[in-house]
Amino acid sequence: MSEWWKRAVFYQIYPKSFRDTNNDGIGDLNGIREKLPYLRELGIDALWISPIYLSPQVDNGYDVSDYRQIDPMFGTNQEMYQLIDEAHEWNIKIVMDFVANHTSDQCLWFQESRKSKDNFFSDFYIWKDGKSDGSAPNNWGSSFGGSAWSWDASRQQYYLHYYAKEQPDLNWENPTVREYIYDMMRFWKAKGVDGWRMDVITSISKNLDFPNNPRDFTTENQQNGPRMHEFIHEMNQEVLKPFRMMSVGESPAAKSTDAHLLVDPKREELDMIFTFEHMHVDRKKGDINGRWALKSMDLPDLKKILASWQTELRDKGWNALYFENHDRARVISRWGNDERYRYECATAFAIILHGLQGTPFIYQGEEIGMTNTKFELEEYEDIELRGNYEFYVEQQKTMSKEEFLKAVHKISRDNARTPMQWDQSANAGFSQAQPWFKVNPNYTQINVAVDQANEKSIFKLYQELIRLRHSERILTEGSFELLYPNDRALFIYQRKLEQEYWYILANMSEEYQKIPKELTELVGEFKIKNNSERSDLMEDLAPYEAFIVRRTSLK
Ligand code: GLC
Ligand code: CA
Repeated sequence: MSEWWKRAVFYQIYPKSFRDTNNDGIGDLNGIREKLPYLRELGIDALWISPIYLSPQVDNGYDVSDYRQIDPMFGTNQEMYQLIDEAHEWNIKIVMDFVANHTSDQCLWFQESRKSKDNFFSDFYIWKDGKSDGSAPNNWGSSFGGSAWSWDASRQQYYLHYYAKEQPDLNWENPTVREYIYDMMRFWKAKGVDGWRMDVITSISKNLDFPNNPRDFTTENQQNGPRMHEFIHEMNQEVLKPFRMMSVGESPAAKSTDAHLLVDPKREELDMIFTFEHMHVDRKKGDINGRWALKSMDLPDLKKILASWQTELRDKGWNALYFENHDRARVISRWGNDERYRYECATAFAIILHGLQGTPFIYQGEEIGMTNTKFELEEYEDIELRGNYEFYVEQQKTMSKEEFLKAVHKISRDNARTPMQWDQSANAGFSQAQPWFKVNPNYTQINVAVDQANEKSIFKLYQELIRLRHSERILTEGSFELLYPNDRALFIYQRKLEQEYWYILANMSEEYQKIPKELTELVGEFKIKNNSERSDLMEDLAPYEAFIVRRTSLK
């Protein structure tokens, strides 16, 4: 199948926190190379590597100052080329992070652009005059808090930034900008890169009317702009299609009902998108405290959202499946139980995700059940967290410090960014030096070495799941049906291919649960399970018990 990514399982690496080999406390490319055998053992097919380009690291590399240079903190260009080649020898594909909605303010293009209104780069960014009273052109907000406009004293104009002020947004209306980007993609293709994860790709086209939002500093109007499809299609024709590069775009605002516009193969835009809808099931929508206003997760909501994506994209696209990445908290800490039922919970989330149709993405540490941290506010690093603290707690004053910290412990991005926990040695085997970011103190109990030696090993269950995805066509091709959608504890669905029926069952609660009567009639073969005692469908489901069973006959 030329669409290799449909049968693949991806693994995301956040390089800064993965493995440090030269002991400067920062993960590096040689650290990824060193761990290729580990990744092969896990069984994954492809790596998505978060940005490693030259960057001032204001947003951990999502602020690129030169797209063709590896940041010396991570290694050299030669080392990157070597990593690509070696990964290929291990049959692992490499997908890089494409961060082209914005650059760093240190990028040469911006440095030139800010100098004057009439140089070669003037039109590379979104510049506008202030209002007559000198204030910003409109009230749009930055995702990191405050206004999306900053004043530039040298050019005497405002520039737009959807994220930090050090991340000016590129002007995709300018054909030269697009040509520069496509060229950068060709450069990496020539080095062997197999595809792209596209950072906030749905923000590249701006609403050039710049309408005010109902409330100051919110982020409406920043997604799915008028020329988005046109730009993405052009990129597809210029680079993705001719060079057969895989693409998965980050699409915060997509709905299951319109997602096909981005991923229907007939439209020649993207192969897959990362959607956010299912990750917002614990958010109070429209709240004055934005993403920090939390409620408890509603299982029927989660099931229905995931199901609607399964159904809507069935013949018009392909799903990217994930619960964790570098912007998300650890799912077992956020929606489950990361203490008493850590093994059961981690494997239950894995089973429900990997049983779906689509391409699963595992985030580093998820395969051993790493958890959130409970640091003090001052111990966090993330610019989003800091900016939002300043905005909601200090300026807007709609949250207390305690409330904010409580939300941080649940959903902050830094929860996923602590160094990878390899073993029980100092700094969790991540580095021999003091790591750039504090290690989760639970590393002495939770780490790769301990997990692999455990009878109840999360890693081993992932290995089995990946093996199943490789060998069983039904997981890639089978149809999907959600069962018992309103049940508040059970997540159950069916996959079907020709005469083959599989059932994925998970108890997502801490209480024992009855298996629905109809399913107890079924005689089956267990394909994977997280409870070794399970041998038939009669016994109640234990807390966070999950399995996949193939129907062999009915009683
Ligand atoms: C994406 C990235 C996130 C980054 C932001 C700005 O959402 O995943 O980490 O901060 O874009 O580039
Ligand atoms: Ca290093």
